Amino acid sequence: MTLYYRTKILGTGLYYPQKIVTNDDLARSIDTSDQWITERTGIKKRRISSTKGGEFPTDMALNASLIALKNANLSPNDIDCIIFATFTPDYRLPSCATILQTKLGITNGCAAMDISAACSGFLYALNTANSFIQTGMMKKILIIGSEMLSREVDWSDRGVCILFGDGCGVAVVGRNEDPNDKSEILSTKLGADGTGREFLYQTYGGSVNPITPEIAASKERYLTMNGKEMFKVAVRTLTDISLAALNSAGLKGIEDIDWFVPHQANIRILEATANRLNINPNKVVINIEDYANTSAATIPTAFHQAVSDGRIKRGQLILLSAFGGGLTSASTVLRY
Ligand code: UT7
Repeated sequence: MTLYYRTKILGTGLYYPQKIVTNDDLARSIDTSDQWITERTGIKKRRISSTKGGEFPTDMALNASLIALKNANLSPNDIDCIIFATFTPDYRLPSCATILQTKLGITNGCAAMDISAACSGFLYALNTANSFIQTGMMKKILIIGSEMLSREVDWSDRGVCILFGDGCGVAVVGRNEDPNDKSEILSTKLGADGTGREFLYQTYGGSVNPITPEIAASKERYLTMNGKEMFKVAVRTLTDISLAALNSAGLKGIEDIDWFVPHQANIRILEATANRLNINPNKVVINIEDYANTSAATIPTAFHQAVSDGRIKRGQLILLSAFGGGLTSASTVLRY
């Protein structure tokens, strides 16, 4: 028999910036409308971080982490590792995870690292944490999905800017040593297809094309997306990876799942995926209407909201699935 430890979600938290930007607000500066955005995406508003400070990715993570730690009944120094998923970090160096370590006042020298897997980042972090815990290497890990996409989108590009928002979701995971407690991560699937890189990318800001004064002043430094291709890949990938995770969790079928928490990219993607998976739409946790696509933060924020308002209960079976730039994909089945 293979010996491994079980991983349990001990507590969750979130932080959203104060500023709310509605579709009508956007329609005042670009050629769009509340009706078009609502019908094509399901989004009505989004939160945007202050650029003056206090709402950068590690600031949001500090607020959300303190809530998650409180819910887990833990102190910052109980944490063995911080895994921070983002593609909009405070700085290129140092990592957000190490900045958060100091902000939380952690003095135990815990491990800290960032993960770059775009919108699949939180599930990549969760599954990395799961491996560290299963093998016995670590006991308690703080995982974060925090993004400030408002800095990376061209606010005059109506095909892209309407989709995104800022926010942060956090979970504390730990070893479950109570044989009577059934909470555990049952299966995980991670994937990627680098051939789809041209569907969502940023040309400038890396070693190949550093940001020069000319680029900084131009629109070329922002995110570029082929929305139609992303849409097609999204539905297919979310469905396939979800089925793979369900299969390896050994469930009878999709009817065993109590809640599906997918990456929130577009309401039509969520509906098409739920339809293909044959899951009851009432079991899908959706928060895109109020918060738009916050990349690595969509799943942990939606999960935390559903836990906080009593939809997701201990003992229930949850399916989490994401896809994103790269192209990356990930899916997890867990008993909460
Ligand atoms: O986390 C993952 C990242 N991204 C995604 O998953 C994105 C997936 N894709 C999408 O969500 C959708 O493709 C979009 C919402 C981005 C676009 O929706 P669409 O139904 O694919 O629209 P489209 O790009 O085919 O555009 C249809 C029309 C075009 O006009 P014409 O050429 O038919 O005259 C666009 O110019 O709608 C126009 N359009 C807009 N009109 C008003 C595009 N954006 C807007 C807008 N407001 N914001």
